[in-house]
Amino acid sequence: MDGPEGLSETPRKSERSGELPTPDTFLEESDALRMPREAMLELARRAAELLVERLERLPEEHAWDGEFRQDLVDQLMEDPPESGRPALQVLERAARDILPLAIRNDHPRSFAFIPSSPTWPSIVADFMAAGFHVNQCTWLTSSGASQLELVVIDWFCRWVGYPETAGGLLTSGGSAASLDAFVAAREAAGHPDRATVYMGDQSHSAQIRAAKIIGIRPQHVRKVASDSRFRLDMDALVRAVADDRAAGLNPIAVCSNAGAGSTGAIDPLEAVSDYCEAEGLWHHVDAAYGGFGMVTERGKRLLRGIERADSIGLDAHKWFFQPYEAGCLLVKDLKTLGQAFRIPHDMLQDTIWGGNHPNFSDRGLQLSRSVRALKIWVSVQTFGMAAFRRAVSKGMALASEAQEYIERSAVLEVLNPASLSIICFRVNPAAESIDENSLEEVNRTVLARIFWDDRAFISSTRLRGRFSLRMCIVNHNTTWDDVRETLEAVERFGLMAVSDWKDG
Ligand SMILES: Cc1ncc(COP(=O)(O)O)c(C=O)c1O
Repeated sequence: MDGPEGLSETPRKSERSGELPTPDTFLEESDALRMPREAMLELARRAAELLVERLERLPEEHAWDGEFRQDLVDQLMEDPPESGRPALQVLERAARDILPLAIRNDHPRSFAFIPSSPTWPSIVADFMAAGFHVNQCTWLTSSGASQLELVVIDWFCRWVGYPETAGGLLTSGGSAASLDAFVAAREAAGHPDRATVYMGDQSHSAQIRAAKIIGIRPQHVRKVASDSRFRLDMDALVRAVADDRAAGLNPIAVCSNAGAGSTGAIDPLEAVSDYCEAEGLWHHVDAAYGGFGMVTERGKRLLRGIERADSIGLDAHKWFFQPYEAGCLLVKDLKTLGQAFRIPHDMLQDTIWGGNHPNFSDRGLQLSRSVRALKIWVSVQTFGMAAFRRAVSKGMALASEAQEYIERSAVLEVLNPASLSIICFRVNPAAESIDENSLEEVNRTVLARIFWDDRAFISSTRLRGRFSLRMCIVNHNTTWDDVRETLEAVERFGLMAVSDWKDG
């Protein structure tokens, strides 16, 4: 059999008769994209088995696997087959040869960049959402899913402390959330020429890209200095805005971090809001990484003031245990999104139900949208908030423990204390006196050894020019042993790298 199971053995009508295709022929050929019921179930069952087996094996597997480009070109670059192949074989090939070549973001010793670890019900919910194939652009096309998104958005608004006037939408991620926020900010400011935006020098590149997409000139995206703990420096912000106004520019927005990607640093959210309110500027908080800290008491204390911002970007595919893509933009005044994005369209006139029946396409850049709320809703319904709260708290607790371990270590040095669930450190044995350039060389070597050792995965950043290792702990399956063994590996590789450095 060389096509989708049970279907491909019968030659097509046009092949049998040599006739020109007729409308009937096309109808019959369209059946070729269908599968018999048993084959459908077998395929789905096998996919579920492959995934469950993967999850069971994960702790013993490497945290990373990858190939150089040419090997993959040789394996994968091919013309699409004219006739189909057995679906089970195709799926198994993907599961064996393609998808594992990746950072295993959900591996318990995966600490690089911002990892994540989706729950099983949320993975299955994404499959369900694809299967029901709802286009969640308007109330007409998706009333059930639209109401579900309103429920999830309402939860998020309550967790961040937003008032009744607030609302938002789920997005592909934090980048799209920032883009939508900047559009709303610019429209709220009356779309002035020569607009400028402000962000700390620790802000994510996604913010700069969002500013670029909305047409802010690169020289008008101000990167404001940060303090010794990598938090936006208010004096520097005030000076930058005043200088720009004096030069005839039009400041429209300030973007602050509620968990910067490098360090987990939290900008002075209340002070930025005070300032933005006084100056008539939009305050957007990038909480893509840190925002779900708000479900815990400790996170609420750390992120106090977030509820004053005009908008907040969140990523449930980071610290809220969802599969990609599960971003979110919340705005304190929902009207601002409609004013920025609603565009009448004759072809869509039937979708305007009014009377409080929102169309999510009026809130952001996407028309066709998948049902992102389903995975969040299903997993929260399944496990309950107490379990989510514990899982988020665990990331912060483990990062604090990691800091204590590093402080006790004779080989490691803390470069920035744990903030939320990120810790920055490096190899710098107390007994040695190693200059800055050599420390970078040593730590780069350590990182390379961790990469090739594969048992854990961490990444690096630069802190005021200094090369730093960093760990971000947001996996609900990670244990203290996973963290400790990873730090022990860094120490072991560190001593080897220092010894190589001494040998010249
Ligand atoms: C702090 C921060 N902001 C924004 C983003 C961009 O989010 P996304 O990758 O979901 O578009 C990231 C991604 O890691 C991030 O860590």
